[in-house]
Amino acid sequence: MLLVLNSTILTDYDIAGCSLRNRLAVAPMTRVSATETGQATQQMARYYERFAHGGFGLVITEGIYTDQKYSQGYPYQPGITDDEQAQAWRMVTGAIHAHQGMVFAQLMHAGALSQGNRFTDVSAAPSALRPKGEQMKFYYGAGSYAVPRAMTDEDIVDAIAGFAQAAALASQCAGFDGIEIHGANGYLLDQFLTDYTNHRNDRWGGGLRDRMNLTLEVVRAVRLAVGTLPVGVRISQGKVNDFDHKWAEGEQAAEVIFGSLSDAAVDFIHVTEHQAWKPAFINGHSSLVSLSRRYAPEVALIANGGLHRAEHASSVLEEGADIIAIGKAALANPDLPRRLANTQRLNEFDASILGPIANIKNGELVSD
Ligand SMILES: Cc1cc2nc3c(=O)[nH]c(=O)nc-3n(C[C@H](O)[C@H](O)[C@H](O)COP(=O)(O)O)c2cc1C
Repeated sequence: MLLVLNSTILTDYDIAGCSLRNRLAVAPMTRVSATETGQATQQMARYYERFAHGGFGLVITEGIYTDQKYSQGYPYQPGITDDEQAQAWRMVTGAIHAHQGMVFAQLMHAGALSQGNRFTDVSAAPSALRPKGEQMKFYYGAGSYAVPRAMTDEDIVDAIAGFAQAAALASQCAGFDGIEIHGANGYLLDQFLTDYTNHRNDRWGGGLRDRMNLTLEVVRAVRLAVGTLPVGVRISQGKVNDFDHKWAEGEQAAEVIFGSLSDAAVDFIHVTEHQAWKPAFINGHSSLVSLSRRYAPEVALIANGGLHRAEHASSVLEEGADIIAIGKAALANPDLPRRLANTQRLNEFDASILGPIANIKNGELVSD
């Protein structure tokens, strides 16, 4: 099993002209370790460098906030909203490139799930509805989320412009090789997509296709900002504040979501599920990976969710995934690709490194 898997997963792959040495990516993981003013640090550069040194072909950064209005989600989250923040990212991108790794910036607007924004005390979202769940303690949050203000047309134009400017800074100043737009996990774009968080009846709300409009507008604006650099979107059903959410429209939703992303000419789709190899719907047989492959047949496909086990990774590769993204197991094994190549055992992930705050611990940076 391991050998069959290795033969595919360790081969090179090209996303829109970006050559990856293998099919293993580090999944985006927020580590709230930037400066108070959102600049990437030397410590972050060392943290990210280990993954490239350990053989990962691609690193996708943690969610980076995109504007100086409503996008920031957490204290100490890095941003890419001005020249200084963009320049600081050069330490990270340079360190990854030094080990022949590629690095995509994940651009993220927290929307109603913002729990720490130095630019404002107010959060903004499609509708003025208090989010489900509780703020995340390991990102300095406590208690219920605030009720956001419903975004005006002007707020929406600003949010789109924020993504575009952040993408331009990422490609032209910070040295990134691609852009991942965070459309998953309950953040702003997913709030627009989700029936119960979007009660609008303008062009940004209504049926599912209309609820996709903001994501598609962001794709268009980012594409204009970065030219031919790879641009993709991360999509999930589950959310950080509603773990088991399923799309109300079932497989039909997959057709609309993946089909419209394909029509928008994204270079990649990144699907994430808690257990990515399992059927996406209770009454169906297809995983989100295979649905994405079916409705966006030509688009590069990154799969994530519990895929550090060889049999699960093999299963999604057979269903059409091109790249496997690894989260927690990469924290435990920054050299996971090397271990795979040498059929070495993996270290177990120890959740205590994310507590009490999910920031980077210096102990993580000691190489073995
Ligand atoms: C500490 C931590 C931070 C995360 N931050 C982000 C993030 O910034 N953006 C994102 O899209 N997903 C984020 N995720 C989700 C991961 O990308 C991934 O989907 C999840 O860990 C499941 O993959 P795994 O089973 O390989 O760990 C985070 C996960 C963890 C554990």
